[in-house]
Amino acid sequence: MDILAMLTPLQTLAYIAAALLFILALAGLSKQKTAAQGNTFGIIGMAVALVVTVAIAIATDSTGAGITAALMLVAILIGGAFGVFKAVRVQMTGMPELVAMLHSFVGAAAVLVGVNSFITDPGSGTYENAFHMGEVGLAVFIGAVTLTGSIVAYLKLSAKISGKPLTLPGRNIINLVMLVIIIACIAWFVNTVGVEAGTLPLAVITVVSLVLGAHLVLAIGGGDMPVVVSMLNSYSGWAAAMAGFTLGNDLLIITGALVGSSGAFLSWIMCQGMNRSFISVILGGFGEGASPKGGSGEARDYGEHTEITPEEVAALLKEAKRVVVTPGYGMAVAQAQFPVAELTRKLIAMGVNVQFGIHPVAGRMPGHMNVLLAEAKVPYDNVFEMDEINDEFGDVDVVLVIGANDTVNPSAETEPDSPIAGMPVLRVWEAGRVIVSKRGMGNAGYAGVQNPLFFNENTDMLLGNAKDTVEAINAAL
Ligand code: TAP
Repeated sequence: MDILAMLTPLQTLAYIAAALLFILALAGLSKQKTAAQGNTFGIIGMAVALVVTVAIAIATDSTGAGITAALMLVAILIGGAFGVFKAVRVQMTGMPELVAMLHSFVGAAAVLVGVNSFITDPGSGTYENAFHMGEVGLAVFIGAVTLTGSIVAYLKLSAKISGKPLTLPGRNIINLVMLVIIIACIAWFVNTVGVEAGTLPLAVITVVSLVLGAHLVLAIGGGDMPVVVSMLNSYSGWAAAMAGFTLGNDLLIITGALVGSSGAFLSWIMCQGMNRSFISVILGGFGEGASPKGGSGEARDYGEHTEITPEEVAALLKEAKRVVVTPGYGMAVAQAQFPVAELTRKLIAMGVNVQFGIHPVAGRMPGHMNVLLAEAKVPYDNVFEMDEINDEFGDVDVVLVIGANDTVNPSAETEPDSPIAGMPVLRVWEAGRVIVSKRGMGNAGYAGVQNPLFFNENTDMLLGNAKDTVEAINAAL
């Protein structure tokens, strides 16, 4: 029996199974309790997809199955080794950078697949071919935007370049002009015949898209970077889907569309969490109102702060009926989730009601705090999203702010000229007492603005590395 005739139905079945597994993976990842299971579904789905795709490629190869198999093996070994190396070494705090870097690979792959597909099957003037050429043009466009956009996001997140938004005069017009050039060149490209005629428009599409991707992300301010990462995640999905069209691979189209739409949805949720407009993010018009132009209130005098010792905090907590912990990036840096979990266990054993209030963009990636708390085995039932707990701070005796800053900054509500104005924040200042853990008074949070909370009468600063100070509270308890 013809091996191809045997493999084709198998491929269809395997691709449907993999697509279903990917959908189950996304469903599982939406809840903390089922996240590990969701991950397993994703891994199985990807393994099925990979094995079948490689098997088909080898079986249908006309030039020599041995060479194809060897080349694929080398590619998988290099890619796999790099992936394992990076995943093992990455710190939880470096995750967004790693994700941004991985998105750039998807973008690069879409560009390469598009160019390769054009060389092997250039314009021929027929109706069917025009579709193919349109797909190639779009794949190269979205892929190139994703490639440079992700590289700039990586450089910004890893502080290799400044996080400040680059606000060229008339930058929206510049973006629009680039977009018009790209669309015009795609139309030109679709109507070319042969490799020679198509090379120039494709080269212009590639170069202008590369510049557009970099410019879009350079224009976005540091505080808005989380939305950019999830937006690039979405772009990388669409780039993969386009590559799927050019390769005629249904699974790649489905997978790309899943990533593209879920990334877009996550960006939208995050925009709501930060009170930003989704459209302005998509257009790269972000950061304008958020640029640190000196109107941030940094120069304002908020008065004197008061300090507290771990022993005094322990005494305060013992007396409290209800305590809410609002963790932030500093808890991740200090790896303080373990002593915080220990503190929670001790207080619960003493009859104190301990809850966690999680801001949607606390830390440096979506779900960052949830991952850390789950790692330290804090019970899920004690962990609440911002919206679930924000109206209840008036009934809370003590709030422990562990390494959070921007996400508990009242100036987001009270200072319209603040770079974080309009961002919803945890209203911790409404509690009876607020204890803020940070290392010193010199550093601001991610957005680079002063936090008037630290100078409130009912706020005391617990200065020092969060892991050490929380351990000291535990010891005193
Ligand atoms: P941040 O505003 O980043 O503030 C971190 C705080 O932790 C600072 O007060 C810092 O003060 C303190 N800190 C750092 N290391 C510490 C340590 N070892 N021990 C004790 N404290 C320590 O934190 P946040 O409230 O979580 O806000 C997150 C910010 O990051 C937002 O602006 C958000 O937009 C942005 N962002 C979020 C994401 C996502 S998706 N979550 C991604 C990228 C950016 P000291 O330096 O004085 O210790």
